[in-house]
Amino acid sequence: MTESAPAVAIRGLERTFPTAAGDVHALTGIDLDVRPGEFVSLIGPSGCGKSTLLRLIADLDRPTSGELSVFGKPAPRARVDQDYGIAFQQAGLLPWRTVADNVGLPLQLHGARKADRAARVAELLDMVGLAEFAGRFPDQLSGGMQQRVAIARALAEKPKLLLMDEPFGALDEMTREKMQSDLLRIRAETGAAVVFVTHSIPEAVYLSDRVVVMSPRPGRISGILEMRLEGGADRGEDLREDEAYFAMVTAVREALHGGEPAGRGVETR
Ligand SMILES: Nc1ncnc2c1ncn2[C@@H]1O[C@H](COP(=O)(O)OP(=O)(O)OP(=O)(O)O)[C@@H](O)[C@H]1O
Ligand SMILES: [Mg+2]
Repeated sequence: MTESAPAVAIRGLERTFPTAAGDVHALTGIDLDVRPGEFVSLIGPSGCGKSTLLRLIADLDRPTSGELSVFGKPAPRARVDQDYGIAFQQAGLLPWRTVADNVGLPLQLHGARKADRAARVAELLDMVGLAEFAGRFPDQLSGGMQQRVAIARALAEKPKLLLMDEPFGALDEMTREKMQSDLLRIRAETGAAVVFVTHSIPEAVYLSDRVVVMSPRPGRISGILEMRLEGGADRGEDLREDEAYFAMVTAVREALHGGEPAGRGVETR
């Protein structure tokens, strides 16, 4: 890992899916850098290529053309090196393994010693507030708890980058706000960069250093908005009632609807 390299660097990225009905231009002309430790959200209408972009970063798919590196390395190398953790909309837990064994799975797969694994799993479950549930099975947990298990698992190997695709999409509003605060705290504790896909404007604003607005057909970046909000990475619940926060919500909404973003402290590209 090159220390000074961006967490993610993308240049001229294209992804076209050949289908029977013709080519689908899922992504075109994507340029984006994510700094180490930075929280970047991707927001945009359904089908604009958010998941495709995340999958390309995670090396779950290959670009048609363009360049993509993760901590200065080609995406396949970063995957082998376990430079990032992934959490998607579905928690994707293994139902036959306990909570602790789900969280410890990546460590087990990579040959961590049993005692080290147990210590790390305990630390992670504590971090996501599930210490008491270590011995339970996924179907004995609520959706929000399952999602926290998935996040703990994604953090198991202390990745410097987290890739999250609508991880809180299925949760009720109260749980969702709690998970957002938890994620900010975890991110402050781990210093990880995050690329976060969401459909929620308030969620993107609350969490992000920058919000990337995308538009469909073909999917491209239509604007990048800097969230200059109080508290930096240490944002508290008060922020949700802050005037600057509402101004950012409005700015992102306007950018999404194709207008010129308005408001103080907003920049586009
Ligand atoms: N494997 C594939 N084969 C063909 N087309 C695909 C494939 N994967 C994605 N697409 C198309 O690429 C476009 C972008 O899809 P993608 O899943 O990235 O959108 P999204 O922004 O994540 O949408 P949503 O908000 O609904 O999750 C869509 O038009 C989709 O149909
Ligand atoms: Mg998607």
